[in-house]
This record gives sequence, C-alpha cells and structure tokens, in this order.
Amino acid sequence: MAAPYSPAELDHLFYQSADAFFLKHHAVALTYDDITLATRFSEVLPRDTQLQTTLAEGLDLQIPVLSADMDTVTESRMAIAMALNGGLGLIHYNLTEKEQLSEVSRVKNHVHGLIQEPIKVNPEQEIGEIVELVERKRFAFSTFPVVDSGGRLLGLLPGHVVKPRYAKRKVGEALTPRNQVFTLDVRELGADPIARADRFFTDHPGIHKLLVVDAQDQLRGLFTLSDIERITMERAAQLKPARDSQFRLLCGAALATFRKADGSPDHERMLNHVGALVDRGMDTVAISTAHGHSRGVGETVRAVRDAFPRLPIIAGNVTSAAGVEYLAHCGANSIKVGQGPGSICTTRVVAGVGIPQMTALYVASRAASDLGVTILADGGITKSGDVVKALTLGHGVICGGLLAGCPEAPGQIMEINGKLYKQYRGMGSLPAMKAGSAARYGHSASDSSRKVAAEGVEALKEVSGSIDLVLNQLIGGIQAGMGYLGAPDLPSLRSKARYIRVSPAGQREAGPHDVVEIKASTK
Ligand code: XMP
Repeated sequence: MAAPYSPAELDHLFYQSADAFFLKHHAVALTYDDITLATRFSEVLPRDTQLQTTLAEGLDLQIPVLSADMDTVTESRMAIAMALNGGLGLIHYNLTEKEQLSEVSRVKNHVHGLIQEPIKVNPEQEIGEIVELVERKRFAFSTFPVVDSGGRLLGLLPGHVVKPRYAKRKVGEALTPRNQVFTLDVRELGADPIARADRFFTDHPGIHKLLVVDAQDQLRGLFTLSDIERITMERAAQLKPARDSQFRLLCGAALATFRKADGSPDHERMLNHVGALVDRGMDTVAISTAHGHSRGVGETVRAVRDAFPRLPIIAGNVTSAAGVEYLAHCGANSIKVGQGPGSICTTRVVAGVGIPQMTALYVASRAASDLGVTILADGGITKSGDVVKALTLGHGVICGGLLAGCPEAPGQIMEINGKLYKQYRGMGSLPAMKAGSAARYGHSASDSSRKVAAEGVEALKEVSGSIDLVLNQLIGGIQAGMGYLGAPDLPSLRSKARYIRVSPAGQREAGPHDVVEIKASTK
C-alpha cells in the first residue's frame, strides 16, 4: 500500500511553522514546556553558530541575554559581568538618582582586568588586623597596596608577611617601599590596557602585581598577573564582550516613574535624569512596568523619545499585539513581553491576568515584525531549552531568577542548614515596592504601607556559580538547539523553527526519569 503522505508532507503536517502552529492553537495559551521544537536537516555545528542580536539601531549584543532590572539581580557588578560575556545588564531603579548614575558610571568606566578599587591598608594598621580581614572576608589574596590618609601610594604589603606570626607588627614596618613597587601611570594605559599590562608582566618575570597611579601618585588601580592571563585566554574565545563605539562595556538602566507632590508624573525630573544617564554613557533605557499598554507608560516613552531621538528605548511589559503597536508608535525600539511568567511573579494569581509566554511571544512577534521593533522574552526562563524556544520568536531573553544566585547579583549570601542562599524578590513584592518600585505596579510608594495587593514574592535562590559559568551553560544549550535546527544564526533559528505540542507524559519524558540521579545537571 502506498504511503498516504510523502516524508516532506508528514513533517509539514506534524511539525508546523510558527504561523500554522500558533494560529491552529489560538484558543489555548501555551508556554515553554507545552511545546517542543522539531529537528531539521543540519550542516551546522553548535560551536559555529552566531549569537549576535540587534535590539535597536546602535544596540548590538554578542549574546541575546539580558539581566533583569531587579534590585536583587542587576547592579554594576552584574552589568559588568553580563557585558563582558557579550550580553547586557539593566541597572534597576530602586536606587536614588545619584546611586543609579554611579552604578552606570562604574560599568562604563570599567577597565577589564584593572581592579579599580583595590582593598587598601594603611601603615598604622597591625598585620594581625589584616590577617583577620583576609579570613573574615575569605579573600583569595593577601597582598595589599598601602596608602596614606590622602590615598597616596606608600608601598605594597606582600602576602608572605600577612601571617599570624607577624600579628603585632605595623604594616608600615613590613611593606615593600614605594620606590621598589612597580607602577604604571594611568595615562600610559592607552586604548588597550590589557595588552599594556600583559606586556609588563612578560617583561618582568616573577612580578604578579602592577599598581596604577595618577600624576599625584594616588592609587588608581591594580592589575594582577592571574587576571591578565585569564583575560588573554578569554580573548581567544568565541564570545566577545558587548561594547560601545568607544570600546566601553554596554550598560542599560531602568527608569523610575518620578512623581510630583500631587501624584502627577514629573516629566522634567525624569528627563533630567535620563539626560544625566546618557551623559554617563548609558546605551539604552528600560521603561519597565507591569502594564506597558497604558497611557502613563506611553506618555513616558513618548517624552523620552522626543527628548532623545537616538536613544534605544526598551519598554513594556505587554502580551498583546495592540500593546506592541502602542509602544512602538510611542517610540520604543524593543518591547518586553511577559505578564506573570516570572519565577517570583504572582500577577496571574493576584489579578487573574497574564498570558503564558510562547503564545504571548507569538502574538507580540507578529505585530513587532510589521512595525520594525524587536521583542524581548521577559520572565519564566528556567533552562537553556526555554531560551531556544523564546528565541524562535524574539530577539533576546531577560533573566531574573536564573542569575539571582550568582555572586555578581546584589545581596548577601546566607547559610541555612548548611546550604548557601541569596535573596531574590519580585519588584512587585511589598518590600521592593517600599524600596521604590511601587509605581511599576501602579501604586505610589506611600500606598505600599496601605493595603495593596503585592504581585511578587520574596524568595531565596541557592547560590550558583559565577555569571561566566551560568552563561556558559546557557550559551552551550542555545548553540546545541541551533545545531539541531540547522540554524547558523538567530534569524535562521526564527525561520527554521517548527513546533508541536507536548502531552503531560511527553513533558515527563523530557526530563531525567526512571533513574536515580546522582548529580543534578546544571540548567
Ligand atoms: P524570572 O522568571 O526570570 O522573571 O525570575 C524575571 C522577570 O519577572 C518580572 N517581575 C515581576 N513580575 N511581579 C511580577 O508579576 C513581580 O513582583 C515581579 N518582579 C519582576 C520582570 O519582568 C522580570 O524581568
């Protein structure tokens, strides 16, 4: 009996393009685990895939991953680590204007490899204090620059004297004096400080530290041989940092809603702040709210667009085509899609509102492509497979929970029953709203002491490896997915994706099953 369908027809019937699949399933909202992607003929090796994405004119990333503008996820340390890996950090806005400006400056002024604020000691301290400091802070190093009260360099306290045996000696007695310490004038760093430091260490065998000073001999930074060696190895790696035209790391910042005493929006103060952020080199502003398809958000986007015609604007959040159209018409370049998918979000439970991510992304992406704007999948990403699925429709993903356990996220590490955790909280949780994010959820800061419904929870994340490790895993997964689909780059991933729904039994089958796991694999 002749087969009713050819191989091509069979695949076409079962594994459908985005339009065929999502239009067929228009009456049900689907999220990442509800679907799976079909493999396609491939000549593409995962390691050869390209992950560059353009979110707006002038906003090009090497990897399509952003860290969320949340107060337990992104400050300068996270944004630096994200940009060094080719992504982008969005500095949160539960900070004063001044604090947010200095967080952005830290990222933009970051010289990779140069520790700009090294831990310093003073000559009057006893070595015992330094030993105690190293133990308390668990420093992996014990050599410290010595400076006077005016910050001028006096010498270097070498690690081999930071020992309990010398506890009672003064730092001033044990230091290597200034004239024997190797230094570089900050003006000699040039356009490629790493190459400069690398050359120095090659020319000075056995020297592991190079101090940077200014014309007044004030300490301006410290290079260590081990950092420089790690960075030169990274340079040969495939992923490049995300940089602006002046070779500075990229940095985004979220914009708070400023209000006057009578509660009306204070556009003048807001625009002044955006201007100050732009002066510091901010590459994109994120206007993040729970309901982006609303007049207030639109007016804010329009005001920023009018005042800064070339600034890339990220705005959201929406889950409808009309929402995308509205924000695009107001002047946004990249639209955040996601209402309620986040790991700490309770919007769907509290308000009964929100759309599972794959359906929301499909609807938004079809409106976006007609309007020439890009789409960011925001929230709900728990594993690299989710990112691959999100990137079949969007141009990037925003991660909160996945990164909140990294040492680069703000917040203290705490130990509970022998396990290490970091705090992670929704920006719509009561404490976060009290700290400033109330406007994002349509409340004023004073409301947060009244009875308002929180739309986020406070939680803990187990401490994970560094951002480098987490992103490595994530990127490896994305590249594997692209290899399976025969997609050499992200635009072809979007065109090659074919979808099918997964049954509950299929979902169970997708994870490890019927085995005793001895070590959970990293997501
Ligand atoms: P993940 O799943 O990556 O989600 O942890 C991060 C995203 O969640 C959003 N967000 C919230 N949504 N209530 C919400 O409904 C909240 O309190 C809240 N805080 C953050 C936000 O879009 C973030 O990027």
